Amino acid sequence: MCGIVGYIGNRDAYPIVLNGLKRLEYRGYDSAGIALYDGTKIQLCKTKGKVADLEEKFSRQMATKCKIGIGHTRWATHGVPNDINSHPHYSNSGDLVIIHNGIIENYASIKKELINRGYTFYSDTDTEVLVNLIEDIKINQKVKLGQAVQIALNEVVGAYAIALFDKNKPDEIVVAKLGSPLAIGIGEDEFFVASDATPFIEFTKNAIYLEDEEMAIIRLGKDVNIRKVKDDSSVAPYIQKLKLNLEQIEKGGYDYFMLKEIYEQPSVIKDTYRGRLLADKGIIKLGGLENHIEKFTNADRIIIVACGTSWHAGLVAEYIFEDWARIPVEVEYASEFRYRNPVITDKDIIIAISQSGETADTLAAIKLAKEKGAFVYGICNVVGSTISRATDSGTYTHAGPEIGVASTKAFTTQITVLTMIALKLAKVKGTISQSNYRLHLRELELIPSNVEMALQKNNDIEEIAKLFKDATNFLYLGRGYNFPVALEGALKLKEISYIHAEGYPAAEMKHGPIALIDEQMPIVVIAVNSNHYDKVVSNIQEIKSRKGKIIAVVTEGDTVVKELADYIMEVPNTPETLSPLVTTIPLQLLSYHIALMLGRNVDQPRNLAKAVTVE
Ligand code: G6P
Repeated sequence: MCGIVGYIGNRDAYPIVLNGLKRLEYRGYDSAGIALYDGTKIQLCKTKGKVADLEEKFSRQMATKCKIGIGHTRWATHGVPNDINSHPHYSNSGDLVIIHNGIIENYASIKKELINRGYTFYSDTDTEVLVNLIEDIKINQKVKLGQAVQIALNEVVGAYAIALFDKNKPDEIVVAKLGSPLAIGIGEDEFFVASDATPFIEFTKNAIYLEDEEMAIIRLGKDVNIRKVKDDSSVAPYIQKLKLNLEQIEKGGYDYFMLKEIYEQPSVIKDTYRGRLLADKGIIKLGGLENHIEKFTNADRIIIVACGTSWHAGLVAEYIFEDWARIPVEVEYASEFRYRNPVITDKDIIIAISQSGETADTLAAIKLAKEKGAFVYGICNVVGSTISRATDSGTYTHAGPEIGVASTKAFTTQITVLTMIALKLAKVKGTISQSNYRLHLRELELIPSNVEMALQKNNDIEEIAKLFKDATNFLYLGRGYNFPVALEGALKLKEISYIHAEGYPAAEMKHGPIALIDEQMPIVVIAVNSNHYDKVVSNIQEIKSRKGKIIAVVTEGDTVVKELADYIMEVPNTPETLSPLVTTIPLQLLSYHIALMLGRNVDQPRNLAKAVTVE
């Protein structure tokens, strides 16, 4: 978590860094800071709060035009969010200034040693320890800044993306990365540094993504000098052309990114299958899969690893893969998987799902699986992200940047990819009938228009939200393919409204949650056409006899549940297998409206961050 930005060039660094921080705020937003250097004086400003608070505070100071600037938006790990713990941090001499995304795990022992050598610490952060370690090495070993950084990084254990400059070197920024992402934008006679490419997209489309344990010395008027942290060997820079554009990262007339992203789903689902799903020809083409089909069809099992919403997409996939492709599937929280000594063999396939492609636990799970010889397939949204590079092969979701912290379009596009993979494997294995295969290809192609129709019910959902915004608990129930949707619906509500919500398989309600039901309790039940429809109706009856308030997601034209439920949210008819792609839409909208009515910051809910780069 945390976002870092840097600039060195002949423009004024302040607006570039500040704007960059606004774009990276999704990565953490409990404090923010900036340091600017005009070659004579460093101006440093930091504050608890959001980038807007920083802007306010800084505008009260006199900013001169500066060639160098670094900025940070924080998600606290070491030390509470306050002005002092905010980045950037000075070294004791005041010469070095650093920003850091990550965690230095052995900071305590280094700090102790530095204190013994006379260093003073003003914050509780691990970052201040790192910058003083670099300074200590620089002074005592009489080495240049780049070398001091390198020696220091070989001493620390943990994760980092850092950027720092030295007052004595007004033309240089040094950056390095391990675990946390770091992109360098290459302009004409200017350079940008950021946790992702969004801060510099309007200035340059040329970017270098540093690999783990690489550092770069960025000097004005020179090429970027990339070196390995371990042995100082030189690395040839690989410059990528970015496809991202400015429009994709702006709100486009919506009040919140989350709402924009909910409404983008019809078009991004189309982008996900464009050129890959050829329904009229009966073909699915997935570049990343074609060369590895045999690995999949011969696999003993598929293990899906992910976190948060991506884990819910994995649960949907479990139903689809087992049903169509008849391959056993296990879905694991990456954070549990990585630490429980799992049994993995080279006959296993790991599918890692991650919107950001940066989630630390998912990345660690991938590394573990690779060590044990498994083939790892990635499903990521962010092109060039760490996970997309760490996997053996994979498929991008092409959902475009997702900025709202609560994931929406990532979920539906992940399910779209997983559905295509499952259909393709089932076809190759011969475990799906030709007619069922063809039917699903056609129905998948219709999903964008079905999602569009589900979105048209927004006003009805807003009315329901008004009635339940003050509830303190919600229960979400679903069965089969829609059990993971119930989990996802509850997660969305928790994340952005701070109302306690639990998702449950509808039949499990009897084993506990039923005790919570009274006339105050709203229960969202997904009761669309399915093989379990009658069973869900029975579950609704059970709730009704305990006077719970039923909000049901139903298929258009439904009459039975409509009679029983207090409120309904209609979605178009789809095959049960594809229904999560539409049933999730009213649940996203319900959470959005409730959160908005409660005055929450929908895009930046408290304590959360979009890319969780710490475990
Ligand atoms: C965080 C985000 C969630 C996301 C999860 C996994 O918790 O707030 O929205 O689902 O991380 O992220 P990933 O990028 O790996 O999908």
